[in-house]
Amino acid sequence: MTAATGSREVFATRAGFLLAAAGSAVGLGNMWRFPYLASENGGAAFVLVYVVLTLVLGIPLMLAEFGVGRRGQRAPIGSLRKLGGRGWGALGYLFVGVGGLILAYYSVIAGWTLRYGLEAVFVGFAPSSADHFAAVSSGVDAVAFHVAFMAATVLIVVVGVKGGIERASLLMMPLLFLLLAALALWAATLEDAGTGYVVYLKPRFEQVLNPDVWRAAASQAFFSLSLGMGGMLTYASYLKRDQNLPESATAIAFTDFSVAFIAGLLVFPVIYSFGLQDAVSASTIGALFIAVPSAFESMGPLGRVVGFVFFLVLALGAITSTISLLEVVTASVMDEFGASRRKAALWAGTVVTLLGVVPALDTDALGLLDKIVGEFLLLAGGLILALFAGWRLRGPVREELLAGASPFWQRQLRWILMVLRFVVPVIVAIVLVFSLGGTAAAVRSFFAG
Ligand code: TRP
Repeated sequence: MTAATGSREVFATRAGFLLAAAGSAVGLGNMWRFPYLASENGGAAFVLVYVVLTLVLGIPLMLAEFGVGRRGQRAPIGSLRKLGGRGWGALGYLFVGVGGLILAYYSVIAGWTLRYGLEAVFVGFAPSSADHFAAVSSGVDAVAFHVAFMAATVLIVVVGVKGGIERASLLMMPLLFLLLAALALWAATLEDAGTGYVVYLKPRFEQVLNPDVWRAAASQAFFSLSLGMGGMLTYASYLKRDQNLPESATAIAFTDFSVAFIAGLLVFPVIYSFGLQDAVSASTIGALFIAVPSAFESMGPLGRVVGFVFFLVLALGAITSTISLLEVVTASVMDEFGASRRKAALWAGTVVTLLGVVPALDTDALGLLDKIVGEFLLLAGGLILALFAGWRLRGPVREELLAGASPFWQRQLRWILMVLRFVVPVIVAIVLVFSLGGTAAAVRSFFAG
């Protein structure tokens, strides 16, 4: 805590911050979870519920993190302690722990995308994609690619906010958008694209009344927007007061939703045009790492090109997310121990890499971690942040969010902050109560074998 505030790193450009935060949000959650959840939970009805929750929970909570982070000019532990006192600071440790936990298993899945991308180039996709996935998704191979992905992540974070995170995001995110759009256009030309769209989006509007659909959409919104563990808070701590935060949050949420929606427009036509629907229902991960590769395999040489682009898009989305997760832990170690960025990133990266060996050896453990994080830890973290920003630190957060906001967004802030105080905590608490039983049951059955 000896470093002067003036020496804190900053994002050099507004676009740099926007793309870094969008990069954190856009990731495997958009391409792996969203399309699957939508088709399982009422198609267009789920999309509708998801959009509502993005507006009602997502944007206010992202603003809570932005406000606290830019105000505190520290990573979660430091900002909460500085602005709220020791007790709140202790809660910051929860966020850092959750960040490390997510990164540990997320990097394993990211490692799969790296592997599949390289396979497309060098050996082609395996003829029996289910067997192949079973062989490489856990074990020594999975550990190796997890380690490689973590190493790449550390390399970017070590360089710093401006030269590492910002530069990588400015380069990778536009490329990701471009390639994803190209893939979605290609998918539209497939023979049975229409069937895919229908399965993805066929509205089953009675599902809007199903509490489980709301629960699934809420936890997806948290995960996809990187909320509930101080990720957005940490990035905002590298901002000066000229960024229009309400506008930024809206743009990021919109971008994140668009990518998720378009990912569905890509994945479903592929699956239905190649008659692979059975592989999808087998597991959530199935759609991405079993059904889609087997479609590429049956396409011959063109499949290798398209398949490479597909897994490149996934890997780009993943690495802009892993750097944000590692940055939370790294920045906290720097703040708390006065460590250099280099030391902090290496240390944090090593601990998380070791932690990730468990999910890399056991896909059930990976699934369990994902469930605990998505259905419990992020929601609890979001509740804490909403109460902190909306009640404990109401005045300063309001003032912080007004600074840099255009008159239009200053006016919108009035009701956004009302929602943050009165609506967000109630909804999140209800969802949390609903989720708890299922999460506890999953933990029990995991340990019961
Ligand atoms: N949002 C990312 C995705 O959808 C994952 C992610 C990055 C994340 N940082 C996070 C999730 C922080 C929760 C919290 O893939």
